[in-house]
Amino acid sequence: MHTQVGIVGGGPSGLLLAHLLHLNGIDSVVLEARSEEYVIDRVRAGVLEQGTVDLLNAVGLGDRMQSEGLIHHGIHISFGGTRHRIDMHELTGGRAITVYGQNEIQKDLNAARRATGRPLLHEVESLALHDIDSTEPRIRYRHNGTAHELTCDFVAGCDGFHGVSRSSIPGSAHTAFERVYPFAWLGILAEAAPASEELVYTWTERGFSLFSMRSPKITRLYLQCAPDEDIAKWSDEAIWNELTARLSTHDGWKPNVGAILQKGVTGMRSYVVEPMQFGRLFLAGDAAHIVPPTGAKGLNLAAADVWVLSQALAAFYKSGSQALLDGYSETCLRRIWKAQRFSWWMTSMLHVFGFGDDTAFDRRRQLAELDYLTSSRAAMTSLAENYVGFPIVE
Ligand code: FAD
Ligand code: PHB
Repeated sequence: MHTQVGIVGGGPSGLLLAHLLHLNGIDSVVLEARSEEYVIDRVRAGVLEQGTVDLLNAVGLGDRMQSEGLIHHGIHISFGGTRHRIDMHELTGGRAITVYGQNEIQKDLNAARRATGRPLLHEVESLALHDIDSTEPRIRYRHNGTAHELTCDFVAGCDGFHGVSRSSIPGSAHTAFERVYPFAWLGILAEAAPASEELVYTWTERGFSLFSMRSPKITRLYLQCAPDEDIAKWSDEAIWNELTARLSTHDGWKPNVGAILQKGVTGMRSYVVEPMQFGRLFLAGDAAHIVPPTGAKGLNLAAADVWVLSQALAAFYKSGSQALLDGYSETCLRRIWKAQRFSWWMTSMLHVFGFGDDTAFDRRRQLAELDYLTSSRAAMTSLAENYVGFPIVE
């Protein structure tokens, strides 16, 4: 079997790329290791930048997002028992973010792929890449117990941080840049009406906490914990007590409590591989880079990567020009490093490092930074323009 672009991974990067290629008349095969239900049910991102929303609307994927997504014009930064609102809309000349769960985007992407009739295979096994430095790379995999080989013009590695694509690049042909943080997030999804219309990022002596949401009935909450936190040790009551202790403010605001529908621990890492390409293999999304979730950038970076890649592939098939493909990494990395810097900055400002053995100096420094951020229009503008994000389609 042959296709123009073999896409490894059917998460947001893989399926959005498949859709963008389809719109350019380019054929692809999407190969996903997990079941469709598993990919849809994973609870992950919730915040879409203005540019991601604009892109999804422009390519015909915005219908449900427009009716069910929640448009937010501001966020709150909370410390010392007080919430400070940052009016992103006003500070960025009218830009905003949209809260629309990755689960919902995944459903929309799966439906869009189905509608094209082009191949999307779930539960593929033993996938391996071959001859990626030739003009006819091959993907070998097993599906329903049978071995298959797919020859391609190009391979898109959209298989997330733990996929096989990145490790198919010889070690001498790439460099990894990495920072692992000494904490993680314990996240819950709760059947409780959001007590605030906008997100609340909170610094406390007990550690960071984030108030977010998925819908008018579902709250999403996170609290900073140890990287090896054993979630089994947390009763639902203990989770609510800790969230309430961290998030409550002097004006009496606190999150509404409800049944916990899902809980999990997520590690925190900053990671970039350079370059994001080797021969005919192009990495996109989490396969190439990871950000700590504090800046809400991961899914947005994935969307930007696949937009750039789709335009480069479209130019190749239209005119035979390799120029945009050759420049793929360089184009993407400028945005990626800005998002890395922003995500690292948000993380460093809002988390308590070391839980106890941190120096008192660093806490005072963090509080001074939060005070500056929430009282300086220049500082708030910098946060706002990074948070709502830079345009994807320029
Ligand atoms: P993935 O979603 O990881 O998809 C990769 C796919 O490849 C998976 O479906 C996987 O099963 C498949 N795969 C792996 N290996 C193979 C293989 N060998 N063969 C075939 N298929 C394979 N981002 C934001 O922008 N905003 C947020 O608010 C936000 N919050 C987050 C909160 C949490 C708790 C987490 C964990 C992440 C969050 N992110 C957020 C990040 C965001 O979820 C990711 O950046 C996004 O999922 C990246 O999409 P992707 O398609 O590149 O990778
Ligand atoms: C979420 O709603 O899951 C979420 C929101 C903002 C973040 C991270 C996660 O920074």
